[in-house]
Amino acid sequence: MNEIPVGTPSSVTFYEAVGGEETFRRLVHRFYQEVAADPILRPMYPEEDLGPAEERLALFLMQYWGGPRTYSDRRGHPRLRMRHMPFRVDRAAHDAWLRCMRAGVDELELPEELEAQLWKYLTYAAATLINTQEG
Ligand code: HEM
Repeated sequence: MNEIPVGTPSSVTFYEAVGGEETFRRLVHRFYQEVAADPILRPMYPEEDLGPAEERLALFLMQYWGGPRTYSDRRGHPRLRMRHMPFRVDRAAHDAWLRCMRAGVDELELPEELEAQLWKYLTYAAATLINTQEG
């Protein structure tokens, strides 16, 4: 019999397609391992413990890609450009951030199309957050 399973979603979010919360946790955990060892980025993070920053970025990315809205419940509207204004995001910081993120993305070993979609967003978003031309 050709029964259509009841409750089969007609479309899945990107969040679900890449494996949900666990995938974003892995991505961001790897990213912060790189940040912790990066001479440009590490001094930019105000807190000694990178754990809370790791949590914020993971929750933000999960929400952005269609997962739970916990980020905004805790932090309000993302307003990323404004939230990065206290930091000197120049070309070097941008490049370092993307280098760390690349290590995280590589580790996920996502199907090509999903990986390309994720990377396109991250590179686009990083470019919009540059707020200092010199350096
Ligand atoms: C371009 C290079 C970037 C640099 C140098 C940078 C640096 C920082 C720093 C120093 C913080 C403060 C740490 C904290 O308290 O959480 C921060 C926060 C944050 N960043 Fe970035 N960032 C960059 C790009 C991005 C991109 C591309 C995204 C999103 C795709 C992003 C998302 C966030 C989020 C969600 C927070 C926490 C905001 C909050 O709720 O307070 N950042 N970033």
